[in-house]
Amino acid sequence: MKIDVLPIPDPKPRIEDESQLVFGKQFTDRMFLMEYTTGQGWHSARIQPYGPFSMDPAAMVLHYAQEIFEGLKAFRRDDGSVALFRPADNVARFNRSARRMCMPEVDEAFFLDAIRQLVALEADWVPRSPGTSLYIRPTMIATEPMLGVRPADQYSCYVILSPVGAYYKGGLAPVKIWISDHYVRAAHGGTGEVKTGGNYAASLYAAREAAGQGYDQVLWLDAKNRQHVEEVGSMNMCFIYDGRLVTSPLHGTILDGITRRSILSLAQQMGLEVEERALAVDEIFAGIESGRLTEAFGTGTAVVVSPVGQFTYQGKTALLGDGKTTGEITRKLYDTLTGIQYGRLPDTQGWVVEI
Ligand code: COI
Repeated sequence: MKIDVLPIPDPKPRIEDESQLVFGKQFTDRMFLMEYTTGQGWHSARIQPYGPFSMDPAAMVLHYAQEIFEGLKAFRRDDGSVALFRPADNVARFNRSARRMCMPEVDEAFFLDAIRQLVALEADWVPRSPGTSLYIRPTMIATEPMLGVRPADQYSCYVILSPVGAYYKGGLAPVKIWISDHYVRAAHGGTGEVKTGGNYAASLYAAREAAGQGYDQVLWLDAKNRQHVEEVGSMNMCFIYDGRLVTSPLHGTILDGITRRSILSLAQQMGLEVEERALAVDEIFAGIESGRLTEAFGTGTAVVVSPVGQFTYQGKTALLGDGKTTGEITRKLYDTLTGIQYGRLPDTQGWVVEI
């Protein structure tokens, strides 16, 4: 399928002060868009000016939340070039999400190329300051106007781009995590591993409660026993426990994070043993107290690697170190991952795709 490239009548001014970049608030001049109709397949692929599109008020996404999305980044490297990080993994996950949500799959090679073309046209928007990047948000929504509950017959798939700074206000400063003993994110057999908006909508109530008490994020426990660590909505969790990297296994309730995958692989290369097992909440507190649990951090495209300084559960708080200092292993993993992304370290695993 050919991608039509439409002119941009009104280009926006570039962001001059990159220190002012917040996550996901500014968007570039162009977006990619294509439509799907049952019987016809995907059609009308184009790169057009970024802006609102009209939708029927009965569009099924607005009623039954048939929606999926992805998050990946383009980085400005030290030599000025722009590169994507593991984009094929995101596109493959987009299709896995599509299957689970009864939505049409995209042709992976075509979609990857569409993302590359869009980023190439918008390359000037990739910020230059340390820690900044261009966040890429592929999205698919059900557009058929219909109030019956069934998979839609019409979809839009689009990609928007947002120049971003750090996800958390404090940058690499350790975050405070509230562990919920009541609310749950996803149960076995549900859609926890799918990148669909509903998972995030369902997390807001607890997140607001946590924010009201001064916490940055909610750590979800398993839905059945509320005992074992699952994930933090915007990141997978890793712990340095007995000198090993411990992280929850992928059993369908948590996201199969691409940053998680990358960190596990880098940790192994660094000689760390990786153990995929769900830590019990009691182990977190006992581990911190006994000194067996020395570091904790989250991983995700948006957050990159985010150290945790404090856990609170049922009114009990445990600090990692002084709660304010990033652990040595966390820092090393962060430096290695971002070193590869920004072209400061060699990409030995073929993760980086130049635009
Ligand atoms: C990402 O890390 O890309 C995410 O999708 C998390 C989030 C900002 C919803």
